[in-house]
Amino acid sequence: MNIAIDGPAGAGKSTAAKAAAKRFGIIYVDTGALYRATGLYMLRCGADPGDPDEVLPLLNEVHITLRFEDGAQHIYLNGEDVSTEIRLPEASSASSAVSAIPEVREFLLDLQRDIAKKNDCIMDGRDIGTVVLPDAQVKIFVTATAEIRAKRRYDEYIGKGMDADYDEILEAIKQRDYNDSHRAVAPLRQADDAVYLDTTEMNAEQEADAVCDIIIARFPERMQWT
Ligand code: DC
Repeated sequence: MNIAIDGPAGAGKSTAAKAAAKRFGIIYVDTGALYRATGLYMLRCGADPGDPDEVLPLLNEVHITLRFEDGAQHIYLNGEDVSTEIRLPEASSASSAVSAIPEVREFLLDLQRDIAKKNDCIMDGRDIGTVVLPDAQVKIFVTATAEIRAKRRYDEYIGKGMDADYDEILEAIKQRDYNDSHRAVAPLRQADDAVYLDTTEMNAEQEADAVCDIIIARFPERMQWT
């Protein structure tokens, strides 16, 4: 069973997907982490993550492994656990830049499909329902206004004791929305057969419940999951 969740940055996909994965006993796969690790590698090499001429020669040096430890995804870049470092704002921008390069998307595609083939999973990203898993049994497109998504990110940083500037976060979110939905290959868009979920008025728990309800509605025979 494969469940695809797509949507813009900060829509709450990962929180809802993690909760659903736990509830249904399947794994959660965060595909954004793959782009983040690739972007991080380019930064570490001093390459411009948006320039194919600089990125492509380095791609064959990128070896990414996902491991699922205690239900959580850990991402290893050339053997090093970079699960925390890929969350830094520089890695966010770099991930969006490398994700616009078709060869990078192609490079990460097999890895994503292979995981989905071997595991019952809920996978989140931008193009899971449209490109990576077009045959997923459930597709959900999660979104919310840019302002509320920026507010959630701001609260998250403050909650972790980090410095944060709301206007900067909002600007970065709008920039990433633009990049992710305007790139030529596999842009962010709702699959025709995806359920649309606007979470602007929802808190994290309500969003997780809404996602689980959509899954249960698709698989009523597996109600014993709940
Ligand atoms: O979900 P995230 O914010 O961690 O994703 C980081 C970047 O990776 C995002 O700006 C776009 C890109 N991405 C993508 O192009 N396709 C995916 N399936 C997942 C992420």
